[in-house]
Amino acid sequence: MIGRPERVPKLEPPTLDESPLVSRIIAVANQKGGVGKTTTAVNVAAYLAAEGPTLLIDMDPQGNATLHFGVNPDELEDSLYDILVSDRGLEEVKLDTEIEGLDLIPSDLNLSAAEIELTSVIGRESVLKDKIAGLETTYTFIVLDVPPSLGLLCLNALHAAGEVVVPVQTQFFSLKGLGQLLKIVDLVKTKLRHDLEVRYLATMVDKRTNMSMVALEKLQTLFADRLFDTLIHVGTKLSESPVHGQPISQYSPRSRAALEYRALAREIIEMGPMETPT
Ligand SMILES: Nc1ncnc2c1ncn2[C@@H]1O[C@H](COP(=O)(O)OP(=O)(O)OP(=O)(O)O)[C@@H](O)[C@H]1O
Ligand SMILES: [Mg+2]
Repeated sequence: MIGRPERVPKLEPPTLDESPLVSRIIAVANQKGGVGKTTTAVNVAAYLAAEGPTLLIDMDPQGNATLHFGVNPDELEDSLYDILVSDRGLEEVKLDTEIEGLDLIPSDLNLSAAEIELTSVIGRESVLKDKIAGLETTYTFIVLDVPPSLGLLCLNALHAAGEVVVPVQTQFFSLKGLGQLLKIVDLVKTKLRHDLEVRYLATMVDKRTNMSMVALEKLQTLFADRLFDTLIHVGTKLSESPVHGQPISQYSPRSRAALEYRALAREIIEMGPMETPT
């Protein structure tokens, strides 16, 4: 006797508003020190987390982004270093933060050894990219806080990222040295990632000083639509918030700095990855 065919459950058609299958990976980089990279990475990541699951990777041996969440790098058992130099996965060192939807890969001083240890590894510039590959369906955004150098960690970040945000302090001398960064970005674009999107962010804008205004005008002329509309002004709350182990969204959510970083996150979300001119 032939039995009745079993009912096969109907497959649901995919919905259009599903979150993207791959993360937007955003490196915050500039080889110049103290221009607002960590401040930008931490605060933008905190606001992006409201939009979708976000991972912040501290790639700086100084561990400033780690500290910014009240985690002492000296007390970590394992950090990004242990992952980069082994076959372990990033999720093994992932920490929760107090911000809903935001996870952190912490870093400590050991990471400075990775620059040397990775030198002899084949595919040394793509170690981070390979580690991130397993997480691309978990996070909507992955933000990389890059150290102030043009070494192997920076190269790994630029190779892994689809987008780079370059904070530039609006001081005359901060514009010097940008050429070096542009050269390495060009190199990465030609050799490794043709579609790398680069945008610039004016930081520590101070309308009271002429020099800051001159530098801002210069950036506007130099980068035109590659410069974010959002300006980050000098704000004492921004320098206080790391001491309290909190992003500005928690420490002082109504301050000008908080509104500016929220606006920047919105700009990043709304712009999406930029079209690369062919
Ligand atoms: N808009 C701002 N107004 C006032 N202080 C700021 C602002 N942005 C950053 N700072 C402070 O300036 C210092 C340097 O900022 P930050 O650590 O973000 O720079 P960085 O580029 O990551 O530095 P490094 O190159 O050492 O990693 C910090 O003490 C930070 O709190
Ligand atoms: Mg930093």
